[in-house]
Amino acid sequence: MSTTASPPDATSAGGASTYLDSADGRSFRVRGSWTPPRVGDFLHLESGGATLLGQVERLEAEGRDQHVASGTLVSVDGPPPAPVPTPVEVSPASDEEVAAVVSGADRRLHVGRLQSMPGVPLGLLSRKLNRHTFWCGQSGSGKTYALGVLLERILTATDLPVLVLDPNSDFVHLDTTVPTADPQESRALADRDVQVLRPDSQERPLRIRFTDLSARAQAAVLRLDPVVDRVEYNALLQLAASFEERHLADVLPTLNQADTPEAVMLAQRLENLGLLDWRTVWSDHTTSATDVLDRRPAATVLDLGGYDEQEEQLAVALGVLDHLWQRRSQRRPLLIVVDEAHNLCPPQAETPLGVAVRDRLVQIAAEGRKYGLWLLVSTQRPSKVHPGIVTQCDNLTLMRMTSRTDLEQLAGIFGHVPEDMLRRAAQFRLGEALVAGTFVPRPTLVRMRDRVTEQGGSDVSVPLRDEDPAVESPPHRPTTGEGTVS
Ligand SMILES: Nc1ncnc2c1ncn2[C@@H]1O[C@H](COP(=O)(O)OP(=O)(O)OP(=O)(O)O)[C@@H](O)[C@H]1O
Ligand SMILES: [Mg+2]
Repeated sequence: MSTTASPPDATSAGGASTYLDSADGRSFRVRGSWTPPRVGDFLHLESGGATLLGQVERLEAEGRDQHVASGTLVSVDGPPPAPVPTPVEVSPASDEEVAAVVSGADRRLHVGRLQSMPGVPLGLLSRKLNRHTFWCGQSGSGKTYALGVLLERILTATDLPVLVLDPNSDFVHLDTTVPTADPQESRALADRDVQVLRPDSQERPLRIRFTDLSARAQAAVLRLDPVVDRVEYNALLQLAASFEERHLADVLPTLNQADTPEAVMLAQRLENLGLLDWRTVWSDHTTSATDVLDRRPAATVLDLGGYDEQEEQLAVALGVLDHLWQRRSQRRPLLIVVDEAHNLCPPQAETPLGVAVRDRLVQIAAEGRKYGLWLLVSTQRPSKVHPGIVTQCDNLTLMRMTSRTDLEQLAGIFGHVPEDMLRRAAQFRLGEALVAGTFVPRPTLVRMRDRVTEQGGSDVSVPLRDEDPAVESPPHRPTTGEGTVS
């Protein structure tokens, strides 16, 4: 028995003191004098000739020793429970019972183990990854590490291609396994086509073509406002079609040769903004990130963190997102992962490029699902990402979060997640998460498993002074306590 629920005064022993009722056959309430379980735990219930499995979503105390646990009936074997109080025997559910509900048959999809039942792995429902996902938790709660776990599972067990927009260079080693990983798991990942595109790489440079951008995107790069700069903006609309060249440097002579004052103004703008100096942004006559993406490798990581300027990051992100959107009618599935999403889709964007990227992501959140474009956005607080994106997410992974305001906001958005389970995030330790939504069988409190690949930007240690031998060293560093899920 591994939940904290201890068997109550059993109904069979010395007078019925614990009762079960169910208003609709799908939810349950257990009332009695017993040591209550914790929210999220599973209960084995025997009542009225039926065996039931219930997940606790809410706990209330009644008087000094009476407790009420209520939640969802996950399985019912026998006659459905009655709406009136019926004597019940309650015990913590066994590992086998819970695993039958939450683990799934494919161990390659196991992302971690239940916090209260370390013997029970949580399995992803890979077919239900066709929804948008919100990944949230305060800084240092383990979001990026856990996101890596999810990506590794997707790469290992599915054919769903993934695009990672990586503003912190945290996923640039997604193609490199750690020496401590299980050899079979390492091999499974090594077989997958993972393309890491980086600004300073000779072999796999991250580039886009200016002339592939839509006129609207080009205008955003040139910081043109359609109303304030209407003359130049209009000149760009007229000229954009004639930019057949593939490099921005080739556009400049075209503008100067056009011999109209507006074209010359555009050329000046291009030079003044120093856009030709974005040497690691613009593709010459060869590769563009969109060419790589069109092949749909198993994973394509765009190392946006390799750029010095935020505007460069935004230009590349816009080029790629616009490209995907323009081809949406092909309905080719892609999971678009945006870590540190506050960089690309904050509620208030500051520049025309920022607005264009954000608006495209909001549009993908609103309409992309039916075209097979699914977003996974990760950030520290719900308010740091545009509400038009967060409110479109069906799936939630919540890591440590102590802010009551943020938890209330999440409860408002993710109404399908039991509020008391959300509140438990305030006590989470590193690597612990609440996972809920269509991509898992039940809302589950989980401890994420270990990574198979390297995380790019792990924490910087605090520099310490030489140890004073007179001071005793601390007993041991707390660990996250999760090994490889078997
Ligand atoms: N389950 C885990 N096991 C071991 N180490 C972990 C685990 N989760 C996270 N870490 C480590 O803890 C540190 C913080 O994790 P991570 O970078 O994932 O946090 P984060 O929530 O993404 O933070 P931020 O919002 O600042 O980006 C990293 O050094 C990471 O390697
Ligand atoms: Mg992070």
